Amino acid sequence: MIIGPALAVGFALGGQTLTVPAPAAAKDGCATCHPDARLEGSIHAGLSCLDCHAGAKLQAGDPPHPAKKDLPPPDCASKCHRGEAASAGAPPLAYADSVHGRGYLDRGEPEVARCWDCHGKHTIKAGSDPASMVNRVNIPTTCSRCHEDMTVVVKYNIHAESPYREYRKSVHGRALFDKGLVSFAAVCTDCQGVHDIPPAADPKSTVHPANLAQTCGQTNCHPGMPARIASAKIHRDVFDKSSGAPYYVQKVLFWLVIISAVSTVLWFIPALLRRLKGCPRR
Ligand code: HEC
Ligand code: HEC
Ligand code: HEC
Ligand code: HEC
Repeated sequence: MIIGPALAVGFALGGQTLTVPAPAAAKDGCATCHPDARLEGSIHAGLSCLDCHAGAKLQAGDPPHPAKKDLPPPDCASKCHRGEAASAGAPPLAYADSVHGRGYLDRGEPEVARCWDCHGKHTIKAGSDPASMVNRVNIPTTCSRCHEDMTVVVKYNIHAESPYREYRKSVHGRALFDKGLVSFAAVCTDCQGVHDIPPAADPKSTVHPANLAQTCGQTNCHPGMPARIASAKIHRDVFDKSSGAPYYVQKVLFWLVIISAVSTVLWFIPALLRRLKGCPRR
């Protein structure tokens, strides 16, 4: 059996002895065989490998722990993530009753999102870190790894066929990616929810037609938006007439900008001419 190197390394610095904890893989005796599984730099750097791979306790034999097929998958909510709130949306525990959670936990579906499909395995960062898979700027890419996959879309009869490509061209996608309005532009989870996403046809879904006006009308978004406008095809290209209301809103805003620019100029020219003729200011 392979036992890991020393638990901690001590060294002297200016007369003071600091104790630096050894990386988890080394500490747990896993590094020799699994050198790529590294927690350094992740939010879980302080954890032991066994905190998540509870079944992998070292024993005599080959492999030195139960075979892969007998290793239970990590359960993020058994000891941890039981009560805390996500900075936005429902807490992780709500996952069990979501469209993804029910698919994975109840039916063992292979393609639904598990915690680590959205957050990563060993490289998890805080959501506020731009490198995090669930940082606002990365959410569309994280979800679309599956939701742009036609095999998944067809197999599960998912109503939105290519949400990323449509979102990318939409007013929200352009604001996020082209204008960098990371805090303001709506991303997938602002409308769909985070851990508690129900099937789209569920009357509890935030994107169910009956709830759209409320979802778009969230404080900070479009308070008071009428239901008819909220039910426009929101992923669509705003410069394409078929997108409905967003196309016309975009047109109205465009002409408002043009009209105000032209009227500013029209107002300015007579004043300028008077100045050039040497007339006194009024
Ligand atoms: C002596 C080498 C060795 C050591 C030490 C070792 N493992 Fe493994 N590990 C293996 C082998 C070999 C497999 C593949 C087993 C199989 O396919 O059934 C494996 C498989 C795994 C898997 C499943 C991999 C997958 O592809 O899903 C996990 C998780 C794992 N080990 C975690 C650990 C942890 C945690 C430790 C430390 C407590 C550890 N291992 C220590 C050899 C080792
Ligand atoms: C925060 C929880 C967590 C910790 C801590 C953790 N792992 Fe993992 N590990 C995971 C998850 C989640 C997976 C993916 C499981 C799956 O796909 O079924 C995984 C997968 C693996 C695999 C399979 C290969 C792969 O990359 O998918 C190995 C081997 C492994 N971990 C070893 C380790 C070792 C060694 C440590 C200690 C350095 C460790 N893990 C620490 C969560 C963790
Ligand atoms: C469908 C994708 C998805 C799945 C599955 C998922 N999460 Fe999340 N999670 C997110 C997103 C997106 C956020 C960021 C929410 C926000 O804007 O604050 C988040 C936030 C979090 C946070 C807060 C992180 C922070 O830095 O604020 C924790 C903790 C968390 N999730 C744990 C879990 C656990 C545990 C599971 C599995 C039970 C899980 N998540 C499953 C997408 C997911
Ligand atoms: C690992 C793949 C995967 C990831 C990542 C993923 N999903 Fe899903 N999602 C699925 C699958 C598969 C289904 C269908 C499950 C079912 O019907 O049982 C689904 C279902 C849904 C549904 C319901 C669709 C419908 O027509 O009823 C919504 C909404 C959804 N996901 C949103 C998201 C969001 C938002 C994210 C990112 C935060 C995300 N998903 C990340 C695989 C994924």
